[in-house]
Amino acid sequence: MPPETMLSQGVSVSKVITKEELCLFEQVAPACGIIIFGASGDLTHRKLLPSLFALAQENLLPKQFYILGLARSPMSDSDFQAKVLDSLGQAATAAARQDFVRHCGYLAGEYQDSKTYEGLRQRLGGLDGIYETSGRHLFYLSTPPSLYETIAAQLGQSGFADSRNPEAWIRIVIEKPFGSSLATAEQLNLSLHRVFREKQIYRIDHYLGKETVQNILMFRFANAIYEPVWNNHYIDQVQITAAESAGVEHRAGYYEQAGALRDMFQNHLFQLLSLIAMEPPASLAADAVRDEKSKVLASLSFPKGCDWQDGVVRGQYAAGAVDDEVVPGYRQEPGVKPISTIETYAALKLEIDNWRWHGVPFYLRSGKRMPARTTDIRVVFKHVPTSIFQPLLADQISPNILHFRIQPDEGIALRFEAKHPGPKLCMSSVTMHFDYEDAFGIRPPEAYARLFHDVMVGDQTLFSRQDWLSHSWRFLDPILECWAKEKEAGLAFYPAGSWGPAEADDLLQKDGRQWLTT
Ligand code: NDP
Ligand code: BG6
Repeated sequence: MPPETMLSQGVSVSKVITKEELCLFEQVAPACGIIIFGASGDLTHRKLLPSLFALAQENLLPKQFYILGLARSPMSDSDFQAKVLDSLGQAATAAARQDFVRHCGYLAGEYQDSKTYEGLRQRLGGLDGIYETSGRHLFYLSTPPSLYETIAAQLGQSGFADSRNPEAWIRIVIEKPFGSSLATAEQLNLSLHRVFREKQIYRIDHYLGKETVQNILMFRFANAIYEPVWNNHYIDQVQITAAESAGVEHRAGYYEQAGALRDMFQNHLFQLLSLIAMEPPASLAADAVRDEKSKVLASLSFPKGCDWQDGVVRGQYAAGAVDDEVVPGYRQEPGVKPISTIETYAALKLEIDNWRWHGVPFYLRSGKRMPARTTDIRVVFKHVPTSIFQPLLADQISPNILHFRIQPDEGIALRFEAKHPGPKLCMSSVTMHFDYEDAFGIRPPEAYARLFHDVMVGDQTLFSRQDWLSHSWRFLDPILECWAKEKEAGLAFYPAGSWGPAEADDLLQKDGRQWLTT
């Protein structure tokens, strides 16, 4: 009897299949309606609609689907379709774009108003009939977070959260940020659970949809050579960087309430940390993976305080230059308070107190207005124990570094020492590269496309679970509270176009280390 094969969605295939066959396995999403709350907003325009179109081009959208946009702005179906066309730019062919927009419609309404949901019922009734969706609905909440609870409650009251049709499913996608503290995140969970079951809730983090982020699991657990050295016996430190050259742009209204810790660490950086540090999961089933990720955050040691000596740095960009362009400081950006103490940069030294990682520092940093847009993870191995290349000492021989390039130039590189040709004893660091584009001939697809598909096929692996979110907020809350009390004291300014405040360098120098940027 061949063993059962478990695919990521928890689907079992009772025969041995080859890698090539596994690759052909594709879950086809059934006919469904996609209802986007926040359809006139920035995210819908820049990411959601182009991603849905990309899926359609890959034949990963069901043949029978519709997209219904919902927002306040008064718009007809054809006005919305014109906006959709604008979002798609020049992707694929004009005929393909036209075909796609024919599936799109629009309904104007206030989310707080129950009449909106009466209108929604009528529209969905008609569309479900035309597209034969059997009542399968994906509600995507891309609205200001303050409206999530209202919308969920209204959907519940109007009977949209359940269906008597056994073929139907109803799923709700919640955009980030998911709360702004442990209390608000738990309150939001509670409100969602009053209406939806956990299996229906998809808390999105678009970093998990990035190919290179998904590849961390494959790299770690489909290769035998890394696992034996993936621990405190061999690894000296791990650095995770998410740098952006852009400033706050037009999002000051949101960012003034958030800051770098809530905007980037609570979700994206902590997801990267969890994937790099987790134990091997029992399978690729959603909860098996999410169990292990949760344990990582549960094992974090809390810092003693919120100063740089405690392993916590916060900074804000001052005026400077990025790519030779002079740019204003954060406080001079439109919509930002001139005395704002919101951090646009943060760095943390984290310790995961478990058997695997005890004693290995994880340095995380993220900031706006840095010299480049780059997200990466560097796993730095220990020095060789002793040197046979005397008079070179062991710590003069550069340690191996495994470099995950999440974006741009997606790939993985391994640095090691090599001998120069010739009779002299010359040694240099060289790098072995894997590059996505070279290896597979395509650029990694847009993260949201993968995530939309996962929701349609009911796979929650790449979505945050409630307990993981609670652990992340539980860790960050004391730091955020401490910063709120300290206001400007302890806020370090850095010129736009630099790699952050000097305190972040001091943090590593204190440990005899430095940030790796090249
Ligand atoms: P926008 O402000 O651009 O869009 C908000 C949308 O919500 C608009 O369509 C707006 O409609 C609608 N809306 C707001 N209030 C109401 C209301 N009372 N009744 C009906 N409609 C309402 O926000 P974004 O698109 O930037 O962000 C959406 C969500 O996605 C947020 O949670 C954000 O944190 C998250 N996100 C955004 C990212 C981005 O790059 N933009 C990145 C990651 C997450 P109208 O304009 O017609 O009034
Ligand atoms: C979003 C943050 O979640 O991620 C933004 O709200 C940030 O502030 C963005 O710019 C970065 O995403 P990416 O995919 O460009 O790295």
